[in-house]
Amino acid sequence: MDTHSLAHTAHIAGPIRWVAGAPCLPLHLPEGNATLAGPVAGRYFLARCADEVDGERTEWSIYLRRPLYAVQRRGDEWLLHLPPDDDPGHGWLRRRAKSAPVDLLGPFGNGFSLPEDGRNLLLLADLTDNPGWLALLLGVVEPLLDRGGRVTLLLRSDGSVGEAALSQLPIPVEVQSAPDEAAWARALNGAIPWADQICAGLPRSRYASLAQAIQAKRFRLEEGFCQLLVQADILCAVGACLACVIPTANGGIIRTCAHGPVFDLTQLAL
Ligand code: FES
Repeated sequence: MDTHSLAHTAHIAGPIRWVAGAPCLPLHLPEGNATLAGPVAGRYFLARCADEVDGERTEWSIYLRRPLYAVQRRGDEWLLHLPPDDDPGHGWLRRRAKSAPVDLLGPFGNGFSLPEDGRNLLLLADLTDNPGWLALLLGVVEPLLDRGGRVTLLLRSDGSVGEAALSQLPIPVEVQSAPDEAAWARALNGAIPWADQICAGLPRSRYASLAQAIQAKRFRLEEGFCQLLVQADILCAVGACLACVIPTANGGIIRTCAHGPVFDLTQLAL
């Protein structure tokens, strides 16, 4: 890996922006770097949470870089999901003023891939697990709509997903919201036969039941039919530290940073 081409000095483009119910850090990244091309959804950066003077880091109290997942790219401006938690690194990023520099490495990760012939895309987001899932999937919507595809979004939500968040979705997206497990199962069973492909943000506890539901409706779970975005403890992003390993369907483990964070459902559940 050429780490030089993955190193960027970004600049804060303005205050935190809310996208589909999730806070995002707007950043300007230098244009013309080939590593910044390609898919957005399912890729991530590592942000250094410390200032630098004359090429030297000024303090080490937050020494680990923080992974920030990409939500949107418009020209040289990227929106990166900044979880609304009390993590000191996230707090440091939240306090950066407009135009302040942020040292980034990335983007890392394989991202979602949409086959050219897929027309009907089903998005699954469990907002009771992570209110940010919807924003993290949004990047797959526009490319599919642009080539004439259709998108249905199924949300597992306790009702807190606001109108403002949903109003940011492109109008052609059909939204279904399941307030409880029975409604989720019904909606899932109804949508699976329609779908050519599924992209999902779900907790790992749902992988097995999703695989079973697909098998029940389509007789088998084919590779390429369902992709999952996995969030794990990403520290090094190059496969060296093993902080991000998750279990696989065959009883092994796999490194999320190097082989994901988007996985085929067949890799993780069967
Ligand atoms: S984050 Fe270090 S191996 Fe994945």
